[in-house]
Amino acid sequence: MDHSENKSSNPRIAKGARTIGDIIEARLSRRGFLGGVAATTGLMASGCATSEVVEEAVPAVAEAREATQTVAFSFEEITRGMDETHHVPSGYTTDQVIRWGDPLFNDSPEFDPMNQSEAAQLKQFGYNNDYLGFVALPAEADGVPRGLLCANHEYVSSLLMQPGIAATYPDSMTKEACLTEMAAHGGSVVEIKQTAEGWKPVIGSRYNRRITAHATPMRMTGPAAGHDRVKTQEDPTGLTVAGTMNNCAGGITPWGTWLMAEENFNGNFLGTLEDDHPEAENHKRFGVAGGWYQWGRHFSRYDISKEPNEPNRFGWVVEVDPMDPTSTPKKLTALGRFKHEGAESVIAPNGHVVVYMGDDQRFDYVYKFVSKNKFDPDNRTANKDLLEDGTLYVARFDEDGFVEWMPLTFGEGLLTPENGFNSQADVLIGARLAGDLLGATPMDRPEDVEPHAETGNVWVMLTNNSRRTTDEIDAANPRAENRFGHIIQITEPDGDFTATQSRWEILVQCGDPSVAEVGATWNPLTSDDGWYGSPDNCAVDPTGRLWIATDGNEKTGAGDGIWAMETDGERRGTSKAFFRAPIGAEVCGPRFTDDGGTLFLAVQHPGDGDGATFEAPTTRWPDFVDGMPPRPTVLAIRKKDGGPIGA
Ligand code: FEO
Ligand code: CA
Ligand code: CA
Ligand code: CA
Repeated sequence: MDHSENKSSNPRIAKGARTIGDIIEARLSRRGFLGGVAATTGLMASGCATSEVVEEAVPAVAEAREATQTVAFSFEEITRGMDETHHVPSGYTTDQVIRWGDPLFNDSPEFDPMNQSEAAQLKQFGYNNDYLGFVALPAEADGVPRGLLCANHEYVSSLLMQPGIAATYPDSMTKEACLTEMAAHGGSVVEIKQTAEGWKPVIGSRYNRRITAHATPMRMTGPAAGHDRVKTQEDPTGLTVAGTMNNCAGGITPWGTWLMAEENFNGNFLGTLEDDHPEAENHKRFGVAGGWYQWGRHFSRYDISKEPNEPNRFGWVVEVDPMDPTSTPKKLTALGRFKHEGAESVIAPNGHVVVYMGDDQRFDYVYKFVSKNKFDPDNRTANKDLLEDGTLYVARFDEDGFVEWMPLTFGEGLLTPENGFNSQADVLIGARLAGDLLGATPMDRPEDVEPHAETGNVWVMLTNNSRRTTDEIDAANPRAENRFGHIIQITEPDGDFTATQSRWEILVQCGDPSVAEVGATWNPLTSDDGWYGSPDNCAVDPTGRLWIATDGNEKTGAGDGIWAMETDGERRGTSKAFFRAPIGAEVCGPRFTDDGGTLFLAVQHPGDGDGATFEAPTTRWPDFVDGMPPRPTVLAIRKKDGGPIGA
């Protein structure tokens, strides 16, 4: 979700039927591609100087580049553009795996968008698929590849999802309409298999499961579990929460559990608190109550004037065991509370598990968690407790090319009662306030953070930050009015992901390289189709190559998509367009199968846009049936003649 535009949070009125040409023309003329970038003129000197400093400090990085001169990606690049449907390179094919409303169980009702209900939605694939995990299952007698798709359903587009909402929003949000929205949030586990018709769901599989915002009990774990600040009237123990929401990106752990990252929880609350309320400062720092949804009209838990602690029970990373549909998901308070974008994990050489995380807000921070105990390849049960205890660090990106990972540990440094922290629970519930005190580096909206186990590289997607002023630029965020984002590469020393001092450099500054004022720094080998703006999710394929998904590339006049990124050798910094989404959609969850032969991706909020409603979306992808709304959908891309994607 691109929070900078809040596409789906405000009431909009249907504008009647429009052609795709009308829509695209209107969007481009409104956005004025070059508007506002003039302030960046002259700032590139700062960005270049940064690169020189880092290069000098990290000679091994430069040597590694020279050592690898091969071209990593041989597919035929697709062209820039924006239209009603999706595009892949020639020689590739797309499977429609599962759509919003598709059945998961033998008793799931047929999808009927005109009469959608909570009861139906609880048995169907949810809305706005974001993160995708894939856990391979052993092949059965038929030899068909199969596995568990773990999909987050981040949020709903209220005006697009249900009929008749736009005209009288927000009064149109009845209790039943709100319950339907809650049931469309959360996540789905669904067994899928690669049939002759491509990857398809196994309806009625014993693994299939829906997790929702309101009907899935979860257990609080870690230092904040049971603390007074997470107790509510509904849960006086502070140990059990009904549901998870705003599950954006995530991760699959080395022991095969699924991490769902709770992001924009602040928007789901209504109400106000007095300025002197003990939670007022913390709620303000997190933007609670954002008022993007109307649930608080009907349910007191979403109204902070009635239940001020409820927001403290969201903003965590949730761990789910997809192999056991009866298991109770865990909220992992040890990993801190903020607007979690993703949670990608890796086993460090010393056996500790490290989870990298971004807090997606303008001027917020990058974090990593290091487990107290070590991974045991022979003890999955013990591994499932690893994320309940450890150290959370927040990043400071220094001008000299080093990252300092500063521990968020109660009693150390400034994290003491004099500064308002009375326990580790306080530090974790108010992780942003703790990071503020320690002088963490305010970043340009950190989204996915992806480690590469073999090299010790970690890629940080910084999607954009149009509010950074000239006075606020720093080495790691070198552009004012950063409309197109950039990517930072962290290199952990000797591949030690637990290190508290690492190196960093900018891999690329995004945007149109033909406009000098934009300050993009692509490798010149990047074609006119190959550049983009607003990197968001990313994935490393089985051979270690980086792939980037975007959310906000429409600002550049072309659809969001997936790009392949060269990170080594002479071609480092070269980007190549691989997939383009239909209008209105961002692309999420890129995820490869272990053989690299399938790339799963999530098309989120297709048909959205200024003025878009259920009655008048910007596309009716993927069904293109009159009256059928656009449907967030998981796709699987494969080569027609087989073999690894992109090779
Ligand atoms: Fe849900 Fe930061 O995207
Ligand atoms: Ca985004
Ligand atoms: Ca995102
Ligand atoms: Ca990722």
